[in-house]
Amino acid sequence: MKPIEIAKDVYWVGVIDWNIRDFHGYLTEQGSTYNAYLILDEKVTLIDTVKKEFADQLLANIGEIIDPKKIDIVISNHTEPDHSGGLPRVLHKIGEDKPLYCSKLGHKNLALHYREKWNYQPVENGGTLNIGRRNLHFLETRMVHWPDSMFTYCPEDKILYSSDGFGQHYAGWERFDDELGEAIMPYAKKYFANILLLYAPLIQQLIKKVTELNLDIRLICPDHGIIWRQDPLKIVQAYADWGNQEPRKKAVVAYDTMWHSTEKMAEAIVAGLITEGIEAKPMHLRTFHRSDVVTEVLDAGALLVGSPTLNNGLYPTVSDFLTYLKGLKPKKKLVGAFGSFGWSGEAVKLINQELEAMKLDLFDKGLNIQFVPNDQDLKTAFEWGKKIGQALKK
Ligand code: FEO
Repeated sequence: MKPIEIAKDVYWVGVIDWNIRDFHGYLTEQGSTYNAYLILDEKVTLIDTVKKEFADQLLANIGEIIDPKKIDIVISNHTEPDHSGGLPRVLHKIGEDKPLYCSKLGHKNLALHYREKWNYQPVENGGTLNIGRRNLHFLETRMVHWPDSMFTYCPEDKILYSSDGFGQHYAGWERFDDELGEAIMPYAKKYFANILLLYAPLIQQLIKKVTELNLDIRLICPDHGIIWRQDPLKIVQAYADWGNQEPRKKAVVAYDTMWHSTEKMAEAIVAGLITEGIEAKPMHLRTFHRSDVVTEVLDAGALLVGSPTLNNGLYPTVSDFLTYLKGLKPKKKLVGAFGSFGWSGEAVKLINQELEAMKLDLFDKGLNIQFVPNDQDLKTAFEWGKKIGQALKK
């Protein structure tokens, strides 16, 4: 895709990755973009690069506007290779002596990634850089998404270059929020749930800090997905809300099943929850990707996890899901476990251990049913769902 002028003398020169479907374990069903930005000023400045395999495309995009060798300054807001992978190729092309601005931890992490003696110019939190008519302000944003992450703000253009913050994995012709409307929000929510949820407390602090700075923001330019221009504060407010994890009257029933017994339990539990007016649905872990289940868990008040006992343990997809979820540190959930077993029946106990390790609020010791549930067993599962629904309404 050709570069686009997003403000006077400021260009999106990123690339679109139409085909990526797995982003370190996250299903990117609509691909992604790696956004980079070129500012034409007395010192021509490039903010971030792209994944290594797209570096030539980035240089070709820049070449549509200016000879890449005329770039004077490169800023790396974040070390993860989807944004820094193009640095070796870009610096080789424009000159390895060109100053590379990054946070102090960015310096350390870039050196550990690329083992190159580039002209690093580590900046302080709150540091500024004059590039001619513009001043760039650097704001450390540790853990959004790595310790090295920072935002770059340009007051003259009123643009916040927010790196991973406020991004979405979405590949499309659209470059701006108003071209997609509400349709972009599920992608932004999924991104928050799967990439940033564990840092939610830090993000709350960051939003407070940015609010106190009272930055005048006309555009928020993340490194993935669309640029927020119609209502940039909408995504900031959404982050504040998602970060709160206020539980809704909603339950996710995530499970896997061997011979449909745990599945029957899941559906009876869901029916019980719905009877109590709870928004609930069963999510089979070989039908729904772990990243989509986590997105649903984000604002759910309850999470119920079901597994049959397989070889004295959990079904592999259930272990996978619990491992993934634990890393994201969800909060404010009422949780419970259920499952069918044949003779030993460890699954429910093992799920409970995992849920307790997440410091979530365990409803009770769970629901175990031997082999195939009969009508009475399904009634018990239905009533269990109802009781959890009632607890969620309190
Ligand atoms: Fe888009 Fe943390 O990289």
